[in-house]
Amino acid sequence: MTETLPQYTSGAHTALSREEAMSILDRLASHLRNQTTDMAPEQLKVPISEYLDQDLWEREIKEIFHAIPLPVGTSAELANVGDFKTMRVVGKEIILVRGKDGTMRAMINVCRHRAMKLLPDGCGSARRFTCGYHSWTYDTDGKLTGVPGEDTFGEVNKEDYSLVQLPCEERAGFIFIGLTPDMDLGIDAWLGEVLPHLEALELDKCTHFTTKTLPGPNWKVTLDGYLEGYHFSSLHAKTVALTNHTNRMTLDSFGPHVRNVFALKTLDAMMEKPRDEWDPAEAMGLVYWVFPGMAIAGGLRERTVISIMLPGDSWSESMTWQTTLLRTPPQTPEEFLEAEKTAEWFFAAFRDEDYTAQTDVQNGLASLADKYMTIGRNEIAVQHAHETIRRLLAHEPVHGPR
Ligand SMILES: [Fe+2]
Repeated sequence: MTETLPQYTSGAHTALSREEAMSILDRLASHLRNQTTDMAPEQLKVPISEYLDQDLWEREIKEIFHAIPLPVGTSAELANVGDFKTMRVVGKEIILVRGKDGTMRAMINVCRHRAMKLLPDGCGSARRFTCGYHSWTYDTDGKLTGVPGEDTFGEVNKEDYSLVQLPCEERAGFIFIGLTPDMDLGIDAWLGEVLPHLEALELDKCTHFTTKTLPGPNWKVTLDGYLEGYHFSSLHAKTVALTNHTNRMTLDSFGPHVRNVFALKTLDAMMEKPRDEWDPAEAMGLVYWVFPGMAIAGGLRERTVISIMLPGDSWSESMTWQTTLLRTPPQTPEEFLEAEKTAEWFFAAFRDEDYTAQTDVQNGLASLADKYMTIGRNEIAVQHAHETIRRLLAHEPVHGPR
């Protein structure tokens, strides 16, 4: 079945210097020899009530999701002037559009006349947006340009009826927005030391292949599944665990963001060879994870899969947008099928294995409401994410020493 897995390209994209990659590979090789993994000093007990508490969820939405930059897509999806997509982000209707000046803008996808959702869900290319209700029309900067029958409607000062703008910045091939209109996004400070690592992935030079959406359960339940390799052999016996070792990973943190590297099974044979013949791209499962929910997998490879998970409209819902980017656009039907296979392989593993299990977790929460979850020492990145959530809600700094 290994032929169904994404390919590793030897001598692939050098998102990490060989020196840095080799130091990670040394840690992974040591973990394989000693049957260890990077670990936290202690277990972490998380009260299950923290998942179920509606007031806490509302605080998270207000004090985290309306206060920090949220990744919402990739620059490659909206590469050309006029390219747009719409999405419902944490209960708000959003348009992302690349304007005439090439700048990415985020706006509330709601007509200023009668609050009709301006554009249906989807993506495309446009020079103007026209509301389906009364045909009020806006340009791609969000300026109101047309009001039909204005002599009967009454005069409209168009300056006062622009689409509501949200802060929006592109960095390293990703689009970040703020859900609070006048907030200072502070994107460079927020990304901090992970930014050069994201830039080194050079995903801004990639071609967009596909984006698929996947509804899921509560955002923290879903998040917990992204950040450890302890579950690979049991939950992913026929998929991820065919190529990845279970419970053998490194963690490096950059403020709230992390880099997980999972030991691939190819490392066993590589360790038999002299160290200077090791090829990091063939033995490392590199995943960058940007708080609060963007996982970037496969940065050393031809194909990168980016999963962006954000809360939905209620406590029990999240939404994930999973995007596949390609370093080289497919030239032949065979290359197209290979890319399709990678995208579908990732999506199916998430949908049928991770998200199915996490929905079962959510369904189990109420039955153990007075108990706690224990996050193991080996689930160090999960602990890190919960610590970041705690700090944000306590208004403590998330960068700096831990
Ligand atoms: Fe998983």
